[in-house]
Amino acid sequence: MKESAVAPGAILEIKNLSVVYNHRTLGEVHALSNVSLDVRVGEALGIAGESGSGKSTLLKSILRLFGAGETAEVSGEILYRGRDIMKMRPEELLALRRGGIYMIFQHPYSAFNPVVKIGSQLDETIRLHGSRREAPDLLETCGLDGRIPDLFPHNLSGGQLQRLQFAMALASGARILLSDEPTTSLDAVSQIEIIELLKTLVEKESLTLLFVSHDLSLIKYLTSRAVVFYAGSLIEDSPCGELFKIPLHPYTDALIKCIPSPDRELGVIPGDPPDLSNPPDGCLFFPRCYLASDICRGDVPLMRTRHRVRCFHAGPFTEL
Ligand SMILES: Nc1ncnc2c1ncn2[C@@H]1O[C@H](COP(=O)(O)OP(=O)(O)OP(=O)(O)O)[C@@H](O)[C@H]1O
Ligand code: SF4
Ligand SMILES: [Mg+2]
Repeated sequence: MKESAVAPGAILEIKNLSVVYNHRTLGEVHALSNVSLDVRVGEALGIAGESGSGKSTLLKSILRLFGAGETAEVSGEILYRGRDIMKMRPEELLALRRGGIYMIFQHPYSAFNPVVKIGSQLDETIRLHGSRREAPDLLETCGLDGRIPDLFPHNLSGGQLQRLQFAMALASGARILLSDEPTTSLDAVSQIEIIELLKTLVEKESLTLLFVSHDLSLIKYLTSRAVVFYAGSLIEDSPCGELFKIPLHPYTDALIKCIPSPDRELGVIPGDPPDLSNPPDGCLFFPRCYLASDICRGDVPLMRTRHRVRCFHAGPFTEL
């Protein structure tokens, strides 16, 4: 069934996005199913969910950044400022990747040319985009030393390379940052510094952020609204203030209880997500859900409006 979600002021509108990978041995893998989502200008949106729930596939779909050897059938619409990215010609898509929307990679080393000095790479980006900002300003904004331009990418630490990705994004004039687990390859101190920098940049540079993380506490700290994915389906979408206080979907409730807290025992979600190469009928969370009833076994719950949640027996589960 087609659903739509359009909001005034949206910079990005995703409508009924489905992605099916064609895997050599597994066959068709239904990585995303009928996802509709809007992102407003200047919004910091968190994207949560267990491993394999489709978070990276969502970001890759937005810029069609599928890797070599990945065969993905993508359907639906992805509108950037009202223009459908799915219908863009290759040169328009390239311009979008180099300009409007910038992907911050989890492993930053792969984002740079290893044999070209950093200064040349940054200058090239500034020149290509006719940016009015100069390299020293961009480096300072991102907390980088002015001597870095003379170095090669392999001379920098993971944290410095991550900062450099942000400088490149600013040089490109990007308005949207897509950030997929940007701190998982960093040590604890660098992780905190990068999250602080990201927060500052989003606020001061008025950027729109899509932030993927396994770590719900980071999402709570950094973003104002969060969407939760389960097995390729968007199951809840809510301002963080509501989501963390009054989760409506039993899966979100269970995920939040997995955040370590001195006030309660650490939660566990029993069982495993379904096999996306052979998804079952009905609600995909059914076998793991403590609230499931007969209707959940055969029917797929639709997304409710307002506090968007996809569940027949949605909460609240937490006392108000
Ligand atoms: N190239 C591919 N071929 C086949 N299946 C794939 C491919 N890439 C991802 N998948 C499958 O698609 C589903 C979604 O994967 P995705 O990487 O988007 O999840 P994720 O939420 O980003 O997980 P993680 O938190 O582990 O990064 C998973 O079932 C995954 O195994
Ligand atoms: S629809 Fe049913 S099985 Fe699915 S999450 Fe809601 S209560 Fe649980
Ligand atoms: Mg991922």
